Amino acid sequence: MEEFAEIKVEGKSVKLPVITGTENEKAIDIAKLRSETGYITLDYGYKNTGATQSSITYLDGENGILRYRGYSIEELAEKSNFLEVAYLLIYGALPTASELANFEKSLAADINVDERVKNLLAAFPSKAHPMAVLSAAIGALSTFEVDSQNPNRSKEEVLKTIISLTAKMPTLSAWAYKNFNGEACVNPKVGLGYIENFIYMMFGKDADPVIVDAINKLLILHADHEQNCSTSTVRIVGSSNANLFSSISAGVSALWGPLHGGANQAVIEMLEAIRDSGTPLSVWIDKAKDKNDPFRLMGFGHRVYKSFDPRATIIKKAADDVLEKLGIQDPLIDIAKQLEQVALSDEYFKARNLYPNVDFYSGIIYKALGIPTEMFTVMFALGRLPGWIAQWKEMTENKEPIGRPRQVYTGANNRPYVAISNR
Ligand code: CMC
Repeated sequence: MEEFAEIKVEGKSVKLPVITGTENEKAIDIAKLRSETGYITLDYGYKNTGATQSSITYLDGENGILRYRGYSIEELAEKSNFLEVAYLLIYGALPTASELANFEKSLAADINVDERVKNLLAAFPSKAHPMAVLSAAIGALSTFEVDSQNPNRSKEEVLKTIISLTAKMPTLSAWAYKNFNGEACVNPKVGLGYIENFIYMMFGKDADPVIVDAINKLLILHADHEQNCSTSTVRIVGSSNANLFSSISAGVSALWGPLHGGANQAVIEMLEAIRDSGTPLSVWIDKAKDKNDPFRLMGFGHRVYKSFDPRATIIKKAADDVLEKLGIQDPLIDIAKQLEQVALSDEYFKARNLYPNVDFYSGIIYKALGIPTEMFTVMFALGRLPGWIAQWKEMTENKEPIGRPRQVYTGANNRPYVAISNR
């Protein structure tokens, strides 16, 4: 039986269809609200607005559940690897052994980036943030692969672009870092795996399996997160029929902000500031609670997780494992643990359901692996790429309309122009 919701406005009643998802999530389809009543909905930050129906990722923030294509994040992080998860997200099903081998082969064949991109990177000032450089370099790829710009591209052309971008992402990420460091870009090495090649291009050496394992896990945990700020950006840019490279480049820019992916860099900077200040933790907690102080506890809170962030639970354990295996003792981790304890027992944080999120611990692992702070958000982007691609692909295959929100205008009413001499 079809369900409806009834909205009464100015004495007029309108019946709107109720949409039910496969996990019994409910939505009211308000598409006809304006044409039937003249009203629109207003929802700053889209806190209660569904922008699409999607079969990629399921997230239940109240119960701390995250699944890609139905598989739990816990199981994927434990048993899978990043390229298998990337395949799952992009193509919708876990690959067979030969499908995975073919996927890996096509990625390896497409890993080289046009040499002219190095000139583009060299044009940036020294110490250019790798996220700015990554976004520019990804956007620039469409100029080397002009077929990608064709809005009437075939399914095969789209898949070709997807492979090309996925293959080149580790190269571009490592080059963005080399450029930041004022070092020459290192070309990928034939025969190395996806993550191994990334490590090789970053550090010029073969990767320690402990490091590869940890990066695999981190990338899996970041691979998709349904309709967040950067993913919605990718979908909305793609909805104008912009090509994949441009859409993902915009997603990278959205991710960079400290309230989103940039939080992992901000967490380490905050922990270092706490360490160097010599000020007790309670002072920092008070600052975070003070509405007149812009300081927030970075790595705490989440728009949708209200009990715990399942990714943070996995990452916290992974951080302990990595530090133990690599024999690293980092005082920052002690500060992080103390901060977590103090915040979790504080009424302010409890009342607002503010828990450590994925970024609270990911920076500590990256630091232990020798990845520099400015690269943390690039690591997030490297992990998120298959999710962005899957979301862009789903949106284009479903032929979703161009994204174009409305607004409530609050400016001046119509008024006559006044000549400058009379002002
Ligand atoms: N420290 C102190 N207070 C906070 C924090 C924090 N980190 N986060 C939220 N609050 C307070 C906020 O001041 C507000 O208080 P009140 O109700 O008294 O006005 C209340 O909690 C709700 O916060 P909000 O800003 O309305 O919540 P939001 O859903 O708009 O923001 C958030 C979510 C993640 C942007 C926010 O919690 C935050 O800024 N956290 C720190 C940055 C961070 O760690 N971001 C990474 C998110 S996880 C990676 C990703 O997926 O992007």
